[in-house]
Amino acid sequence: MRRYLIAGNWKMHGSRDSVGRLLQTLKTIVHLAPHVEMAVFPPFVFLEQAQQLLTDTAIGWGGQNIAISPSGAFTGEISAPMLRDFGCRYVILGHSERRTLFGETSEQVAMKCQSALATDLTPVICVGETLAEREQDLTDQVINQQLAPIFALPEATTILSQAVIAYEPVWAIGTGKTASPAMAQAVHAKIRERIAEHDKKVASEIRILYGGSLKLDNAAALLAMPDIDGGLIGGASLNPEEFNEISKLCSN
Ligand code: PGA
Repeated sequence: MRRYLIAGNWKMHGSRDSVGRLLQTLKTIVHLAPHVEMAVFPPFVFLEQAQQLLTDTAIGWGGQNIAISPSGAFTGEISAPMLRDFGCRYVILGHSERRTLFGETSEQVAMKCQSALATDLTPVICVGETLAEREQDLTDQVINQQLAPIFALPEATTILSQAVIAYEPVWAIGTGKTASPAMAQAVHAKIRERIAEHDKKVASEIRILYGGSLKLDNAAALLAMPDIDGGLIGGASLNPEEFNEISKLCSN
């Protein structure tokens, strides 16, 4: 059985104070069922706080990006071994904001997956179509293209057996619009099918999260879908009570 993953993408939000309060509250209220996993993704500068406050709790933490290289002359970048040094177990890769605002390519995302693997970080690989692409019926094609450079790697099977996929339709991110449960389920099933062409066992085990305006009021229906194994949650993850309530839905 696949374990649910409820992941909070904090993006570029928070201060030392607010992060401290959020983590303290979360730590006090969260009691996870055995089949639910939870992780938060604060901005890099707050990872030490996450490590201090979350060590020995059931809540994991990770970074929102990594550099391709483990070290070197790359001003402004943060590497996978650095995240490990701060106790991270996960890293978000290829978020649509990285792809659209910072020009990150699917080839770079694949190289970052190699870097994550080398450092034993679980990559949360984000894919998803824009509204224009959906309207032209290009969703599956776009996602296949985003995943293609990963499938082309010699270590693709190992990477995918350790990875999590997050389907995040770009038109739903931060907009208050959500994919309907049926719409999301259809895309998740296609992603699993595509992975099964590569490796059936990996496809049955890999977790595929939904992201894009996932909130307490729409989470139950989405999380009940057979191929939705959790959520990558932006806005609603900054409210610890709501985030915790979403994780509790996975216990039912
Ligand atoms: P949202 O963000 O929940 O605020 O739409 C999700 C994400 O970008 O991961």
